Amino acid sequence: MCGIVGYIGFREASDVIIKGLKRLEYRGYDSAGIAVLNGDVKVRKGKGKVVNLEKMVAESGAAGTVGIGHTRWATHGEPNDVNAHPHTDGTKNFALVHNGIIENYDALKKELLAKGHVFEGQTDTEVLAHLIEEIQKVAKTDFETAVQMALKQVDGTYGIAIVNKNEPDQIIVARKGSPLLLGIGDDEVFIASDASPIIEYTNKVIYLDDDEMATITREGYQVKTISNIELSKEVHELEMSIEQIEKGGFPHFMLKEIHEQSQTIADCMRGRLMVDQNRIVLGGIEGVLDRLTNAKRLVIAACGTSWHAGLVGEYLLEYIAKLPVEVEYASEFRYREPLIGPDDVMLVISQSGETADTLAAVREARQRGALVLGICNVVGSTIARETDAGVYTHAGPEIGVASTKAFTAQVTVLSMISILLGQRRKVLSEADAAILIKAMSEIPGKVAQITEKQDEIDHISRLFAYAPNFLYLGRSYNFPVALEGALKLKEISYIHAEGYPAAEMKHGPIALIDEHMPVVVLAVTDHTNEKMISNIEEVRARKGRIIAITTESNHDVRNLAEFAITIPDTHDVLTPLLTVIPLQILSYQIAVYRKANVDQPRNLAKSVTVE
Ligand code: G6P
Repeated sequence: MCGIVGYIGFREASDVIIKGLKRLEYRGYDSAGIAVLNGDVKVRKGKGKVVNLEKMVAESGAAGTVGIGHTRWATHGEPNDVNAHPHTDGTKNFALVHNGIIENYDALKKELLAKGHVFEGQTDTEVLAHLIEEIQKVAKTDFETAVQMALKQVDGTYGIAIVNKNEPDQIIVARKGSPLLLGIGDDEVFIASDASPIIEYTNKVIYLDDDEMATITREGYQVKTISNIELSKEVHELEMSIEQIEKGGFPHFMLKEIHEQSQTIADCMRGRLMVDQNRIVLGGIEGVLDRLTNAKRLVIAACGTSWHAGLVGEYLLEYIAKLPVEVEYASEFRYREPLIGPDDVMLVISQSGETADTLAAVREARQRGALVLGICNVVGSTIARETDAGVYTHAGPEIGVASTKAFTAQVTVLSMISILLGQRRKVLSEADAAILIKAMSEIPGKVAQITEKQDEIDHISRLFAYAPNFLYLGRSYNFPVALEGALKLKEISYIHAEGYPAAEMKHGPIALIDEHMPVVVLAVTDHTNEKMISNIEEVRARKGRIIAITTESNHDVRNLAEFAITIPDTHDVLTPLLTVIPLQILSYQIAVYRKANVDQPRNLAKSVTVE
């Protein structure tokens, strides 16, 4: 959601920035822009894709070695050329890009209008630019102080970068709530919302924390708090490689990421799933294991696909570790008076580690004294840094907006935590642990068998590519997978889809079933098998089109379904790691048939950094 790239050094800033903005496209955006210093502040911006911006820059020029760029995901003001960032102040001396939301922008704007300021667009960001201008004029301060004073008047969140023609050899950045990092090169510094635009130039990064700002020159940077206290920041080394963020021969990142899953699940288990020793080692939470083992309950909070992983986790933790679990939408958790305190443990799940609502839930729970653990994918992300302890999923960068490999890695971590806690809580016998650990070690191979079936799934995708609705049914561990399957389809193909616990079908959705309704049933061979077969019969009786995801050994379901996609047999509790794969492929193929933008679906953002 919104992306910032900035550069100061010896290269053409527009080249670095446009390339960087392309790498941030996956975050979701509707317009793009750039400002480069060259005597003046040259702003080029407009609605639409970064390639349009690239053409604009090629045609009209934007030479210079200091600049900032932005991809905007509209919050205040429609996505059009005027509202695209960067925004300038009234004197056009400086230009500013901003991620986040300035909540008191309306009050600030009214004050500025009364003082004679004229605004070109409707954004909260333009208000901030004018506020800085006004403060500098009235208080007669240097520019950095004016920025600090303005930020103190702002309620809400921001990641900002500013170039000023009167300070031609510096960029000012600041952060509160929206991620920003600095990439440190030789005689050059890069700025970005995440590491993907930086990785090809340097692996040395500094993560800004909330209420921090930095003044950046070619030679280096000075970080301080918004209240002007100087800070010395740790320089981190990135482990990400450039290959990890390129498509590797696949037509879309999403397909690449679906296919990577046998590898990413294996990576996630490496050094943690000790088959020979019949145990699980999770270094990141070792220091808090006693508290976790003795917890009376666990509260899981997350959003989107990560919330679905949390729901699978609820089944796993309750079944394997006999630990009561509540799963919350992070947004709901934070806006009520949550009953959580020092005896509780919260586990948050986030691919990006930057989701605003999940981060707010972390802060709320920590403030109330709970132990807060994280399952994150992005190393060094805000949630990873603000939680007490956690487990990285190690799935590598996920670029497709619709989450795939992050989900299976999250479920893999949750399975490992469940086994570890089951053993420590002495509710899982060594023999049962051995069965589960062995079954987990076989999952990557089984995932690869499913991704190889892509062509088999293709004819089903083609047949239903123009269905207006889809229903997904599952029970037990596979109920959350039904939700996830429906979410994947609506996210990228824009087909209306709903996921339901299969028994609930009779309480509403059955009214929708007729000969046009594809019904995807997750019918593996487990304790719910008989009940699922009854549900299939109920759908068939109303001429619904059954697409069953079932196990190879489940001949009953295979015979009843109009279409059956089989997965290899595994331990019942681990089936979500397999059943979700054909659903990802189905959604992907349908979206491709519908010529939808698979990797960057309309209106969606990869990392939702506003509440
Ligand atoms: C956005 C993404 C989803 C993701 C959700 C939560 O909506 O489009 O794919 O599941 O945010 O993101 P997180 O990074 O916290 O897992």
